[in-house]
Amino acid sequence: MSQQPFSISREVILGVGGGIAAYKSCDLIRRLKDHGFLVTVIPTRSSLNFIGSATWEALSGRPVQSELWNNVHEVPHISMARKADAIVIAPATADLIARIASGRADDLLTNVVLASSSPLILVPAMHSEMWLNPATVSNVETLRKRGVTVIDPAIGNLSSGDKGIGRYPETLEIVQTLNDVLHQSSDLLNRKILISAGGTREMIDPVRYIGNNSSGKQGIALAIDAASRGAKVSLVIANAPDVYVEGIEIVHVSSAIEMFDAMDSRFSDSDIVVMSAAVADVRPATNSQEKIIKSELQSLALTENPDIIATLSVRKTAKQVIVGFAAQTGSEWLDNGRAKLASKKLDLVYVNNVSGGAIFGKEKTSGVIINSNGTDTSIEEMSKLALAHKLLTLAIEKLG
Ligand code: CTP
Repeated sequence: MSQQPFSISREVILGVGGGIAAYKSCDLIRRLKDHGFLVTVIPTRSSLNFIGSATWEALSGRPVQSELWNNVHEVPHISMARKADAIVIAPATADLIARIASGRADDLLTNVVLASSSPLILVPAMHSEMWLNPATVSNVETLRKRGVTVIDPAIGNLSSGDKGIGRYPETLEIVQTLNDVLHQSSDLLNRKILISAGGTREMIDPVRYIGNNSSGKQGIALAIDAASRGAKVSLVIANAPDVYVEGIEIVHVSSAIEMFDAMDSRFSDSDIVVMSAAVADVRPATNSQEKIIKSELQSLALTENPDIIATLSVRKTAKQVIVGFAAQTGSEWLDNGRAKLASKKLDLVYVNNVSGGAIFGKEKTSGVIINSNGTDTSIEEMSKLALAHKLLTLAIEKLG
C-alpha cells in the first residue's frame, strides 16, 4: 500500500548566508526543532567557509545540499520550494539580500527562493556600514514592498570590534516571527499526545474477521492538528490507509489486544489521550489457523475485548486529559454518549449520531462535544480537521 503523506505546516527551509554570524544559526536550528519545526538547511557556497555541511546535517538530521548540480533528475529547487511552508534566511548577508532583491538565481538557495510562494523571512546580520549603505537600504525596501519579512538587526557589539546596528537578533525573536508569519500557534509545544485511530479487526480465521467501517480520518486529523501545534504525537492506527507524517510516531496495529498494548505502554507518558478508534467489543474465542468451512460457521463463540479507554482511565492522573468518541444510533444517542463520559471517566467525549451509516468515511462531521464541566458544544457540518482543532483546544483548556 502506498503511503499517504500529510503536511503539518511546519516544514521550514533555513538558508544560511556567508557571514560570521552563521554559527548563530546552529542555535536557531535547535530552537526551531524545539518548536516542532522540520528543518532543511541550504547553505550558500561562501557560508561553508564558516560552518560546514556536516554540522548542518548533524543538527537538522537531514541531508544538506548547496549546489544546483546534485540530484538534478529530482529538480530539487522546485520540490524543495513546494514542500517548504516558510523560508528563513539567517544570516542574510548584504550580497544575498541584493541577489534576492534583483531576482537572481545562481545557487540552490536563490533558486528555491525564486521558485517558492511561501513566506520568506530574512534575518540580516552585517557590519553597520553595510546595513546602512543606500544599496542595502533600497534592496531591503524593495523586498519589504514585495511582502518579504525583514527582521531589523540588533544593536550591539559587532565582530569587527565596533558597536552599532547589524547584529544577528535573538534566536527566539526569529522563531516568534516565524510563528507569527505562519499564524502557527504552539500551544501544544512539548506536550505528548496519544491518539488511536481506525477500526480494529478480530480474526476469525486467516481470511475472515470481525471489523467495522472506521476510516481513521478523524484520528489522522487529530494527529496532524496536534503536531502542527507543536505536540509530540503518537498515532496508534488500525486498518486505515497507510499514512506518513514526518515527526509523528505511527504505530500500526490490527486487533483490539494489539491496540490495547500500544496504548497501554504509552499512556502514562501522555498529557492528552484521544481514543478515536472504533474498537471491536468482542473477538472470536478461538482464532482458527485454518480457513473454517461453511458448514462449521453457523455460530461463533465470542470473548469480550478489553475496554481500552475505560481500563486506562483508571490510572489517569490530575495532569492528564482523556478524550473519547461515541458513535451512537437511536433517539437516546446524546444521553448514551453522556453516560459513556461518566462510565469511562472521560474529560471530553464527541458524540455523533451515525444512524444509517452517516459520518463514517465522510469528510464532514456533525455531533456534540460533551465536556465533563457540564457544557455541551454543538458541531454542525464541520471538517474532521476543524473538529480535531476544537477538541484539542478544549483539551488544552482542561490541561490548564
Ligand atoms: N472504546 C475502547 N475500547 C473498547 C470499546 C470502545 O477504548 N473496547 C472507546 C472508543 O474508542 C471510544 C469510546 O470507548 O472512545 C466509546 O466507544 P463506543 O464503541 O461508542 O462504546 P462502547 O463502550 O463499545 O459501547 P457500545 O458499543 O455498547 O455502544
